[in-house]
Amino acid sequence: MILDLDLSSITITDRILHLPLLADSRNLCLPDNAIDAVITSPPYLTRIDYAMSTRPELLIMFDPKTLRTIRENTIGAPVIVDKYIKINSTWGKTCLQLLENVQKHGSKAATSYYLPNMLQYFRDIELSRREIIRVLKHNARAIIVVQSSYFKEHEIKLGDIYVEMGNNLGVKSEIVNREILRGHMAHVNTKSNQYKKGKIYFEDMVLLTK
Ligand SMILES: C[S@@+](CC[C@H](N)C(=O)[O-])C[C@H]1O[C@@H](n2cnc3c(N)ncnc32)[C@H](O)[C@@H]1O
Repeated sequence: MILDLDLSSITITDRILHLPLLADSRNLCLPDNAIDAVITSPPYLTRIDYAMSTRPELLIMFDPKTLRTIRENTIGAPVIVDKYIKINSTWGKTCLQLLENVQKHGSKAATSYYLPNMLQYFRDIELSRREIIRVLKHNARAIIVVQSSYFKEHEIKLGDIYVEMGNNLGVKSEIVNREILRGHMAHVNTKSNQYKKGKIYFEDMVLLTK
């Protein structure tokens, strides 16, 4: 990313402050209206277990109890921490339709596992969006890169969900770039295609303007 920024045609006239922070995106240790721009790629709704995939590195730095805490606080992790989250209309109609499809799906784990996992994801993403909006300066922008995925045969249009959630939170939100992911692993995973053939995956760039 640093290389991409170097190669870009952006001309930077002001001094940029690089401030590495160790923080949870749902609770940023930053003041209101302080940040000029945000570029981020949050976890997608694919249940990637970031804490477990970096377990060796984390265990060099932390004890197993801390690793567990990190895992439980990782957005989108495949662990259910809170079973009592309620659907929130702020998440938008595409999200609510997805959750209804999951609720009504006949498969075994849909209501016992996938639904609470998704409720946790959208609750956490809403908290993170609120934090981004809080710390951004007025008229400042955030770019959020997300990928679509599938729950069985149902497409999870994550870019559209982020746009609707952003608009409902009071910031102008739009998809400014969409690309089809041709090399997505699911294209070669026959198991993931059993519910729907020819799945297409998108990477969206969502622009929020405060
Ligand atoms: C899709 S990845 C983004 C990867 C990044 N775009 C890159 O190119 O390396 C999502 C990242 O969000 C991090 N993450 C998950 N939950 C978080 C939280 N609550 N606060 C901050 N970061 C979190 C994950 O550990 C992971 O590194």
